[in-house]
Amino acid sequence: MKKKGIFITFEGAEGSGKSTQIREAAKFFRKKGREVILLREPGGTKISELIRKILLDRANQGMSHATELFLYLAARAQVVEEKILPALREGKVVIADRFEDSTRAYQGFGRGFSLEAIESMSRLVRGTLIPDLTFVLDVDITKGLARGGRHDRIEWEALSFHRKVRQGYLTLARKEPGRMLVLDTDQPVSVVKQCVLERLQRVFGK
Ligand code: TMP
Repeated sequence: MKKKGIFITFEGAEGSGKSTQIREAAKFFRKKGREVILLREPGGTKISELIRKILLDRANQGMSHATELFLYLAARAQVVEEKILPALREGKVVIADRFEDSTRAYQGFGRGFSLEAIESMSRLVRGTLIPDLTFVLDVDITKGLARGGRHDRIEWEALSFHRKVRQGYLTLARKEPGRMLVLDTDQPVSVVKQCVLERLQRVFGK
């Protein structure tokens, strides 16, 4: 029987250590014999990577918040159609470094767009696709920015913006506790990894 596709996302403010945990999640599924596709957002396709360059280029300080929102959605529309949906149809496991919860947290809570507006535009972009499971890596803003550096246009934003994003993630996770699991990255990386693996085992272990 063909395996069912699985869609997992990792979210979090800057410098939350997503990459390490994504590698662990990929290992978990590969050990089970599953084919895993790793993607980052914005990005993951030629067109989406070009949009990423525009979004993150610090030279584009004058970008309006609406332009920013539409570009993130445009990058997502492309990767959903070109990569995510085909992979899921083929029964693969897709692990994405960021997805729609980033738009909710950054453009919703951070920039002030309503979650309802984001939701209705998102439906055009991803149809009924929702991650099966989302890990939110919670990180202290100053520690995260120090860890990740402040290189791109978004990282360059004021601390107050990043604080709103972090609180946004926590609010979103409280509303969807079944799908979104918050992990405190103040704990040692090995402990965070254990939490990720336990949840994956619980949901997809069989
Ligand atoms: P990253 O891939 O290095 O995390 O960079 C992506 C940046 O874009 C990060 O600052 C979060 C931000 N972002 C949004 O503001 N909205 C979105 O929808 C997505 C996917 C990312």
